[in-house]
Amino acid sequence: MNSTLGLWRWLFQRITAILLVVLLAIHIITLHFSHQEFNFKSVVERIQSNYSWVIFYGLFLVVGLWHGLNGVYQVIEDYKPSKGFKNFLIFILWLGGIVLFVWGLRVLLSWWKFTV
Ligand code: HEM
Repeated sequence: MNSTLGLWRWLFQRITAILLVVLLAIHIITLHFSHQEFNFKSVVERIQSNYSWVIFYGLFLVVGLWHGLNGVYQVIEDYKPSKGFKNFLIFILWLGGIVLFVWGLRVLLSWWKFTV
């Protein structure tokens, strides 16, 4: 692994960890500690009330995926697999990441357009 790239990955693992704490705190405070009613309708209405929520959860999705998958990549590197096996695992990570991203985005956009 190119050491400059390795340094960026290391740094981004920490940056995304901090972002996750912030995003998670906002999510928990607005959903679980607000004294508003909490049901399917209120969640849909909250998401649709403002573009910012779509951007917020889109960011949460990207940051969470990047952190988790980059973390798993780090674990793979620690085990020093053969080049072929490592490339295969990287392919699986990319594939999984793309599938989960598209899936997450579809869910988010379906909430955005949902009629209650
Ligand atoms: C608020 C939530 C989270 C925080 C604060 C956090 C923090 C961190 C930090 C600081 C590291 C670097 C550890 C090191 O290199 O010594 C790390 C690694 C990692 N994180 Fe997270 N994380 C969070 C959520 C998650 C989630 C949701 C996942 C899974 C989807 C995840 C998966 C991983 C993995 C696989 C590693 C690599 C472990 C390793 O190198 O041995 N983390 N996390």
